[in-house]
Amino acid sequence: STIYRDGASGHRPVVPTSAQALYNAAHAAMSPEAWAYVAGSSGSETTAAANRAALDRWRIVPRVLRNVAVRDLGIDLLGHHYPSPVIAAPVGALGLVHPDADLAVARASAELGIPYIFSNQASKTMEETAAIMGDSPRWFQLYWSSSDDLVASLLRRAEGAGAQAIVITLDTHTLGWRPRDLDLAYLPFIHGIGIAQYTSDPVFRAIVRERAAMPSDGPRPRVTPRAVKTLLDMTRHYPGRMVENLRSGEPRVAVETFLDVFSRPSLTWDELAFARKHTSLPIVLKGIQHPDDARRALAAGVDGIVVSNHGGRQIDGAIGSLDVLPAIVDIVGGRMPVLFDSGIRGGSDILKALALGAAAVLVGRPWVYGLAIAGSAGVREVLRNLVAEFDIALGLSGHTSIAELSRDSLGERP
Ligand code: FNR
Repeated sequence: STIYRDGASGHRPVVPTSAQALYNAAHAAMSPEAWAYVAGSSGSETTAAANRAALDRWRIVPRVLRNVAVRDLGIDLLGHHYPSPVIAAPVGALGLVHPDADLAVARASAELGIPYIFSNQASKTMEETAAIMGDSPRWFQLYWSSSDDLVASLLRRAEGAGAQAIVITLDTHTLGWRPRDLDLAYLPFIHGIGIAQYTSDPVFRAIVRERAAMPSDGPRPRVTPRAVKTLLDMTRHYPGRMVENLRSGEPRVAVETFLDVFSRPSLTWDELAFARKHTSLPIVLKGIQHPDDARRALAAGVDGIVVSNHGGRQIDGAIGSLDVLPAIVDIVGGRMPVLFDSGIRGGSDILKALALGAAAVLVGRPWVYGLAIAGSAGVREVLRNLVAEFDIALGLSGHTSIAELSRDSLGERP
């Protein structure tokens, strides 16, 4: 009702309220490269469509006359209390969307008390992002590097930056086949956008310097120490300008080094113990879709999972993320929190995921659209709208808290 009252006092929204209008306005506000990267999914984009179809298969069955005047949206998760079940998903390369990038999101999420998961592919370092958040909640998302030392360094830095949990994303050891980006021959990381966690990392910097000192091998250009310094400084201070710098050839090695250390496709369950050894924070595995992988996550002793298919950006032709949630919730049996993402666009979507057993939801693209349209204020409004619409859906479906939601709150579409 506060939001409706704002309207009466002449406050106009800074972003369109409906998901479709938000999407359209973001399209108009973004460069073709940014739009391809953010809005695009993999292959023929059937996984992204399946995510929406899966949400649409379930319908809310409202109840009445249950005194829903006072509602509590709070959740307890991994040892912390959060004001709502909405979490800002890790999103890389935000420098492509807005110059304030991760800082704008940090400001907005801190204002709302919504946990923000810093991306491993951030455009601002986790330290500078954390610095503007006070003690508002933040988590850190890790891509498991081919370098053990870099993994350990990122975990150490995340603890220093006040992260409350570590999210290890497992579905992106290899970048998905993304036709929109391929058609534009554009990937942000190649242009130095989204590698700030690396260029600010002492281990990564040492790796780059070591490679720069190696003699040129075939197509890899000889890199002078000066070129490395220029590159490391430029990616830190002027992400995005790298493309001009790259034309000169030499600094390419740092980007290539990033591509080399970015991930470890050979990673197996056994290696998770390394992360456990290097952090005392709760560990959450993101990208779980199969009940047997949920069982293995439990056996590996992690603290939670995110049922996610990366918003349909990784494997094409996959099952909708919500379609796999009930079986995973069943196999986990309350022994660890099961979070959910991929396709959440409104309050009723949040309610459906929670009713099917999710402990919280991560939201990606919608607030990125808000960022593109109106910077930090846009992110804030999108997140606030999602929480407000969820609050209304909770009340209108006849519930006063998340604990009251169950599969009985839903019906399958005939
Ligand atoms: C992502 N996602 C993502 N995930 C992750 O673990 N690390 C990352 O760096 C990124 N980067 C990223 C960039 C962009 C532009 C998007 C849209 C997504 C995936 C993200 O965390 C989340 O799983 C999805 O965005 C959820 O789907 P929706 O909400 O976008 O439908």
